[in-house]
Amino acid sequence: MAETGRILMVYYSFEGNVEYISRIVSKELPADLFRLEPDREPPKKGIGKILLGGMDVVLGRLPRIVPCKYNLSDYSQIIIATPVWAGSYAPALGTFLKENHLQGKRIYLIVSSSSGNADKMLLKLEDSLTGNNVVGTLSVKDPLRNEEEERPRIEAFLRGIQI
Ligand SMILES: Cc1cc2nc3c(=O)[nH]c(=O)nc-3n(C[C@H](O)[C@H](O)[C@H](O)COP(=O)(O)O)c2cc1C
Repeated sequence: MAETGRILMVYYSFEGNVEYISRIVSKELPADLFRLEPDREPPKKGIGKILLGGMDVVLGRLPRIVPCKYNLSDYSQIIIATPVWAGSYAPALGTFLKENHLQGKRIYLIVSSSSGNADKMLLKLEDSLTGNNVVGTLSVKDPLRNEEEERPRIEAFLRGIQI
């Protein structure tokens, strides 16, 4: 049986915003952190970044990822954090969800986007998580560039997570 409240954060970050959130999580919560590492990513700069990354989402192309080093059955609570890519979640998270059938977890979703608008994507993500209890969602806008507004929102959200 999973210990009550034990928390694992599963996240992907391409440009550091979600990584920034993960650093706040490790400061605020007794959580284990697992960063998704895909075998394929778009170029870091130029038009190819959004174009190729977005194309993978639209075409449903999933990268391979390094397998999760944690035993998911040890955790009753999972924080899932991802950037918004082409109105959806990053492909690396798609691979994780496909390879790890989450069931019966308390789930917190944190999504980061440049527009701050992630409602549609959150619905899609919740849809991929049926059989779990999505107890909280937070949408932030590029926290590395909007630290003053977003850091307090992230901290307040994390304080709502039961340990
Ligand atoms: C391939 C790609 C597609 C993106 N698509 C969107 C989008 O559809 N809507 C949006 O608001 N931001 C979009 N963004 C911006 C990121 O979601 C945003 O900058 C996020 O905070 C990045 O998180 P990260 O730094 O952890 O990778 C996109 C970024 C990339 C690289």
